Amino acid sequence: MTYLTDKRQAPITLATLNKFKATGEKFSCLTCYDASFAHAMQNACVDTILVGDSLGMVVQGQSSTLPVTVADMAYHTANVARANQHALIITDLPFMSYATLGDAIASSRAVMQAGAQMVKIEGGSELSQIVSTLAKNGVPTCVHLGLTPQSVNVFGGYKVQGKTDAAAQKLLDDCQAVVDAGAAMLLLECVPAALAKRVTERFAVPVIGIGAGSDTDGQVLVMHDMLGIYTRKPAKFVKDFLTDAANTDKSVQGAFALYHRQVKDGTFPTPEHSF
Ligand code: KIV
Repeated sequence: MTYLTDKRQAPITLATLNKFKATGEKFSCLTCYDASFAHAMQNACVDTILVGDSLGMVVQGQSSTLPVTVADMAYHTANVARANQHALIITDLPFMSYATLGDAIASSRAVMQAGAQMVKIEGGSELSQIVSTLAKNGVPTCVHLGLTPQSVNVFGGYKVQGKTDAAAQKLLDDCQAVVDAGAAMLLLECVPAALAKRVTERFAVPVIGIGAGSDTDGQVLVMHDMLGIYTRKPAKFVKDFLTDAANTDKSVQGAFALYHRQVKDGTFPTPEHSF
């Protein structure tokens, strides 16, 4: 099957995102797990796609992301990649698939060969060696900090992180360590907006936020959340773009385009979506 693009769009690369950071242009990211939605995101000009291990919850119906496998991630990445010529594709390495250097290399090989252009791993300074080894092997990494869902059993629930001075300092130190190791991007989940702003200003690499305020370079939401498809009470940072009055044709592609536009012009997120 050939996917037709409505617009001639240049592929977004890491260099594009670095340029956006340097010029202060915001970028959009949505999770995506299949070809049809990837095609609609492309028509809506979404800048980056995250094939997130959130698919364990929103696609597979699991109660956490822990059961997701590398084979699941490679399968969904390949489905997305087939319909995408525009967005940079970032794929999560799932729970315990990068516990050792050998695991990290094998898991990255699988998802990069399936079409990912960057891998995302959760943690902090303890990931430094993995980040530098992957970078040396041609794999850019995005390090996910703050609320890291693969550690839900350590946190004892999905809670805002980095609230105390000590926790904020630890997060800054973790960011420094992974950036020094060669991380190409940072993703902050559920951290106070003021802390996310400090991280974004301090580091030269692009910073994506979810529940991290409006000052990060990029924003990401789980696709199902931003389409109003909830199986549990939505988090404070979620906005339903499908039924929003500004999505005049009430289409899925319209919701993606509205999200992209509001991220680009800084009207999403508002303080109401931030901690
Ligand atoms: O897996 C995922 O969807 C994520 C987002 C919550 C950032 O990691």
